Amino acid sequence: MKALFAFAAAALIAGYATASEAGVAGGTKTFEANRCGACHQITGPAKEKTIKDQLAKKGPELWYAGSKFKPGFLEGWLKDPKPIRPLQYNSLTKKNAGDHQRLAATEAADVAAYLMSLTSGDVGPSGIKPGGNPKGKRLFITRAACYGCHEVVSRGSVVGGVSGPSLVAASRRLNVDWVWAYLTNPAVFKPVKDMPNYVGIIEKEDMADLASYVAGLE
Ligand code: HEC
Ligand code: HEC
Repeated sequence: MKALFAFAAAALIAGYATASEAGVAGGTKTFEANRCGACHQITGPAKEKTIKDQLAKKGPELWYAGSKFKPGFLEGWLKDPKPIRPLQYNSLTKKNAGDHQRLAATEAADVAAYLMSLTSGDVGPSGIKPGGNPKGKRLFITRAACYGCHEVVSRGSVVGGVSGPSLVAASRRLNVDWVWAYLTNPAVFKPVKDMPNYVGIIEKEDMADLASYVAGLE
């Protein structure tokens, strides 16, 4: 009986692995067929070295998507891609038209499986608990002025600047370990981006509160 159970469990695990491997393979093909790579980098490390390199990019890099995004987020977003950045990519004036390519349900599931297989060795367990962090909120709004570039919900309305990605509902989108890595190791993820580098300016302990606040945002 025990042996039978073990056999069934092994078969189940093997079956699952095959199903997700098929998803990743199918997702890779769909990604290539749709020329997603014309706008998105899928291999690291970051290639941009100058502002000019950054401005030449047509979309955010995806080579660490599996470390950045919460499981489940990508599949939903690829089917119904609502703007994340209030402004057009690399523009400080033009509104994001919300015209990102849309995928059918099965394609979205496979491409999400593929993107979630792209991970970065620079993102590890941070031990930070997302949410319930009034100190992080205070830092975000006052001292660090994150709020000047990122939207959040406060008392039921969306407030904050628009030059960075919106952080409304970031808890459904961003993995806390990635947010921590992004803030504390920016050279890996944003060598020449518009967001200030806070390493050496904000202490590590405060950075952990900020990561907790951001990754808990509803
Ligand atoms: C013409 C360029 C272009 C093409 C082609 C394109 N994208 Fe994008 N993609 C963008 C831009 C610009 C954004 C930022 C959108 C936003 O912030 O709302 C984006 C955002 C994304 C994001 C969210 C990334 C993040 O860090 O916020 C994912 C995932 C994504 N695209 C996947 C895909 C997939 C899969 C395809 C192919 C089916 C694709 N994209 C095709 C330009 C493109
Ligand atoms: C001067 C404007 C500016 C300020 C101030 C700023 N950011 Fe950003 N932030 C950006 C931009 C621009 C990006 C997007 C970079 C990119 O993907 O090219 C970004 C990206 C992010 C991301 C990743 C979001 C995503 O979906 O990819 C997080 C998290 C973040 N910022 C948190 C913070 C925190 C916390 C602070 C304060 C300590 C802060 N930011 C201050 C402009 C800013």
